[in-house]
Amino acid sequence: MSKIRKCLFPAAGYGTRFLPATKAIPKEMLPVLTKPLLQYGVEEAISAKIDTMAIVTGRGKRAIEDHFDISYELEHQIKGTSKEHYLTEIRKVITNCTFSYTRQIEMKGLGHAILSGETLIGNEPFAVILADDLCDNDGESVLSQMTKLYAKYRCSIVAVEEIPMEQTNKYGVVGGNAEDDNVLRVTDMVEKPDPKDAPSNLAIIGRYILTPDIFDIIRETKPGKGGEIQITDALLTQAKQGRVIAYKFKGKRFDCGSVDGFVKATNYFYNKEKK
Ligand code: G1P
Repeated sequence: MSKIRKCLFPAAGYGTRFLPATKAIPKEMLPVLTKPLLQYGVEEAISAKIDTMAIVTGRGKRAIEDHFDISYELEHQIKGTSKEHYLTEIRKVITNCTFSYTRQIEMKGLGHAILSGETLIGNEPFAVILADDLCDNDGESVLSQMTKLYAKYRCSIVAVEEIPMEQTNKYGVVGGNAEDDNVLRVTDMVEKPDPKDAPSNLAIIGRYILTPDIFDIIRETKPGKGGEIQITDALLTQAKQGRVIAYKFKGKRFDCGSVDGFVKATNYFYNKEKK
């Protein structure tokens, strides 16, 4: 199967860097301007012609399910008023896709979160979006660029960007050989290495396409950095078989998992909207 139909959103994390805001509100629901981070992610998936959203949630995340559902009371209140247009975008999202949810019971890392989503994905290639990496593009969205690449390479793909060498300890970092313009065949991957141990300065950002054999590989993957089951380590197994591509995407990316990146994203979208 070459078409990517489903997108997985790991959304069970605590969002500790945004406390106290994230005490009762999931971090994925924090808004950049008026739209929650997760909705940006879902709209990016839709732009890549994906219509099935699989969300891995956790305790205290019910607001996510309510957001991607109709609120009859609200609809009733604003129907026919000048405020109705505020719901246009989210209505379109709800009408055009289906959402399914599963809970990650214990927080054992991103690899573990992805494995928790297996029941929603099944045996087909799928996309993963980490909603706190907010991407924007005046042309084609990052995920859409990647699904096209998948049709050509038919293997797992990670989106990468060049970062200052001293920041390698914040990301999964890849090493590999040029395969085409902006495309590398990955030979090495390390989760959050010290700069001296990093294979390059190419950092993985929160966009992946994964082939479904990744689930069995994750099951066999031992806890790595921070004692957590890392998707980077599972992907290294595929990379050693020549089955991972790194793609230097076109577009902007904001790290909305940090206050600094969140403020930058807010300013960027505000200025864009004002134009
Ligand atoms: C996760 C991944 C890391 C990746 C990053 C992208 O880390 O483990 O490999 O580079 O997302 O945002 P986290 O930011 O969840 O610590």
